[in-house]
Amino acid sequence: MRTQVVIIGGGPSGLLLGQLLHAHGIETVLLERRTRDYVLGRIRAGVLEAGFVGLLEEAGVAGRLHREGFRHAGTQIAFDGGMFHIDFEGLTGTPVVVYGQTEVTRDLYDAREKVGARTEFEVDHVEIHGADGDAPHVTYVQGGREHKIACDFIAGCDGFHGVSRQAIPLGVRREYEKIYPFGWLGILSETPPVHDELIYANSARGFALCSMRNEKLSRYYIQCALSDSPEDWSDTAFWQELKRRVPEEIAEKLVTGPSIEKSIAPLRSFVTEPMRWGRLFLCGDAAHIVPPTGAKGLNTAASDVHYLHTGLRAFYEASEHEGLDRYSEKALARIWKAERFSWWFSSLLHQYPDQSEFDLKMQQADIAFLRDNAAQQKAFAENYVGLPY
Ligand code: APR
Ligand code: PHB
Repeated sequence: MRTQVVIIGGGPSGLLLGQLLHAHGIETVLLERRTRDYVLGRIRAGVLEAGFVGLLEEAGVAGRLHREGFRHAGTQIAFDGGMFHIDFEGLTGTPVVVYGQTEVTRDLYDAREKVGARTEFEVDHVEIHGADGDAPHVTYVQGGREHKIACDFIAGCDGFHGVSRQAIPLGVRREYEKIYPFGWLGILSETPPVHDELIYANSARGFALCSMRNEKLSRYYIQCALSDSPEDWSDTAFWQELKRRVPEEIAEKLVTGPSIEKSIAPLRSFVTEPMRWGRLFLCGDAAHIVPPTGAKGLNTAASDVHYLHTGLRAFYEASEHEGLDRYSEKALARIWKAERFSWWFSSLLHQYPDQSEFDLKMQQADIAFLRDNAAQQKAFAENYVGLPY
């Protein structure tokens, strides 16, 4: 079998890349380790930058997003018993759209099926061959049989635990990592959101976040110890703790209910360089991870897809190589800025086990400066709504 681009991984990165390439007549085969339903069962953040929305529109997959997505003109930051608003739209002219990643992924799968692009589910033992030559191919096992796909290019969209990054020799790769000393305990509840915007809370007891999926489905998080497990937290204990970390006016309005999903996510910053090795291009979580604080995971995957699909289009349409040759440089330039923002925003809001009294004073002054200074709010807003591609 042969195709133009083999995409390894059927998460948002691989699906969005496949849809954009298809829209420009470039053939792909997508290999996904799990089933479609398994992929759609993942609960992930869904705060979309305008750039992401633009790519979905270009891919012809933004219809439901525009019907069901929630336009957020700003966000609330809770601190010291009160709350202050950061006006994204007023400061940058740009809102964000809240629309669950699960829905984005569902829309992309539906679109891929509709155009008849080939997707292979439940593949095992995916291996990349000849990426550093001119005739790469991929092998995999499915249903007990080995398969081989010759191709021009391979897009490694297989996430942090995939095989693509490992295909780049250790002597070529440089990896940068920071592990945070806490996790996020998140629940999903069929209750109305407590506020019409997200609330990011810094409290002496630890970070909290009030978010949502729609007007009847809320998503809440509290910072927790890495040693915790979801079973350690009853719903009652979760709601009690969340109420102690948000301003009183919010705690009083909070509608509680049974959790329909409860999980703990560790926080990590990670980047691998370069993101290209010959005919192999890494995209999304395969190349970088951010703590979820700034909601940048999905959005940095989108900017990678932007650079990669435009590079591939230029190659096929105009035999032009510069886009692919500069892919890693361009993608990393934006990724490191998103890593910085996510790290800084995490340092602003969480309680760190080893922080000194002085560190605490610096954190409080940092938040107070954000609350009181228009220039700092504009810088925050520009990062949150998404820096230019
Ligand atoms: N072969 C085939 N598929 C694989 C393999 C493999 N060896 N390893 C992993 N996969 C699949 C996973 O099952 C998953 O569906 O690759 C996909 C990777 O998807 P994500 O991990 O979602 O990564 P990405 O598409 O880059 O999206 C980044 O999704 O996970 C969130 O927080 C992340 O918001 C960010 C966004
Ligand atoms: C979420 O709704 O899951 C969410 C929103 C914003 C974040 C992180 C998670 O920064």
